[in-house]
Amino acid sequence: MKLPYKFIEIVLLLTVFAFLVNSLDNGLVPTPPMGWMDWERFRCNINCDTDPDNCIGERLFMRTADRMVSDGYRDAGYVYVSIDDCWMSKERDSQLRLQADPKRFPHGIKWLADYMHQRGLKLGIYEDFGTKTCGGYPGSEFFLMSDAQTFADWDVDMLKLDGCNSHVDQMSVGYPTMGLFLNKTGRPILYSCSWPAYTGSGKKTDYKLIAKTCNMWRNYKDVEDSWDSVYGIIQFYAEDRDHFSSVAGPGNWNDPDQLIIGDYGLSWNQQKVQMGMWAIMASPLFMSVDLDKIDAQSRSLLLNRRVLAINQDKLGIQGTKLMSKAAALDVWTKPILPKGSLAVAVVNGNNKGVPRTAVIQLKELGLTNPSGYNVTETFDGTALGLFRPLDKLTVEANPSGIYLFTAVPINTGAKTIIV
Ligand SMILES: *[C@@H]1O[C@H](CO)[C@@H](O)[C@H](O)[C@H]1NC(C)=O
Repeated sequence: MKLPYKFIEIVLLLTVFAFLVNSLDNGLVPTPPMGWMDWERFRCNINCDTDPDNCIGERLFMRTADRMVSDGYRDAGYVYVSIDDCWMSKERDSQLRLQADPKRFPHGIKWLADYMHQRGLKLGIYEDFGTKTCGGYPGSEFFLMSDAQTFADWDVDMLKLDGCNSHVDQMSVGYPTMGLFLNKTGRPILYSCSWPAYTGSGKKTDYKLIAKTCNMWRNYKDVEDSWDSVYGIIQFYAEDRDHFSSVAGPGNWNDPDQLIIGDYGLSWNQQKVQMGMWAIMASPLFMSVDLDKIDAQSRSLLLNRRVLAINQDKLGIQGTKLMSKAAALDVWTKPILPKGSLAVAVVNGNNKGVPRTAVIQLKELGLTNPSGYNVTETFDGTALGLFRPLDKLTVEANPSGIYLFTAVPINTGAKTIIV
């Protein structure tokens, strides 16, 4: 017998309402989660016969995990290894449970999770709130509870729940319902929702509600391997529609999508923009790159500890655009620790030939400590010296480039070097 959907929905609504009185509290992601996700770089390549190294199968995730350990990514904080769409069999098993494609994941997902855990890593997985995933695999609609339990039984650590093939107006019930079921498994599972990416166009999005349910959420188009894509995302975050930056904080993060650093589409300057801005925006950092083939320069950017420190700052404040110095020459700020400090990005979105200069008086940034600030360029760690509120800092941002620096107040008891 098929229960009428409306009836189920009402029952769930009541349950979920009770749940929503409390906010999401699974103790996860006090700082933005970091890891690797296959989607942007590897897509729905299921051709393991002729492309065994790059197809969506256990081999890709194992070789990536090995690299995350051996090449320093894990120790820098990148711990999630996340499987995106196309991992499943086209059919559920005889008990209607999800199953991995037996040929591409011969050991199954539980075994792969163990593989990650033995290496100090965590396993992420993908499903969809609708009847089918975006790639046409079985969706979780009508199976939310049992699928949550399946993931917990497999010792999965993260779920990305997409929104293809579903009704947008059911998401405000459906996503919290899955959150409830994940909670009821008793296993802490990072919950990544694609919900506002589907509701966001045109309508007002209730980010407060989303933050009560999800640890992170996509709110814009998929990233693709190009500067236009990355800069488009940055502009969406600059606009900050419905003030989504305000709900970010420990446990809850806006997700501008994966890092494409080390892939094909970005110049060195553009890669620095993505890394620097994902740090300023307190974004989850999920690399999507072939870690066996990445070049040393891109790797060093992903591992840059000063940039990562801005992203991982414990205040967890999402940086926002403060002002434009000229068209497509924007200044962004993010408060960081120690108290009174600021990370500042100057982004030149212009592709025309020459570097552009921004002159910034510290006071304009809200930096008013009369004793001044130690200012440090972030990518290279160059100390720029002591600046007081009325002093002017002149910085240059290359075409489709970024200048990133921190200002740390002196005389706050923080450890500083006065130059
Ligand atoms: C479930 O929710 C409760 C109440 O918010 C919370 O205390 C608990 O840690 C959550 N458990 C898991 C496994 O997420």
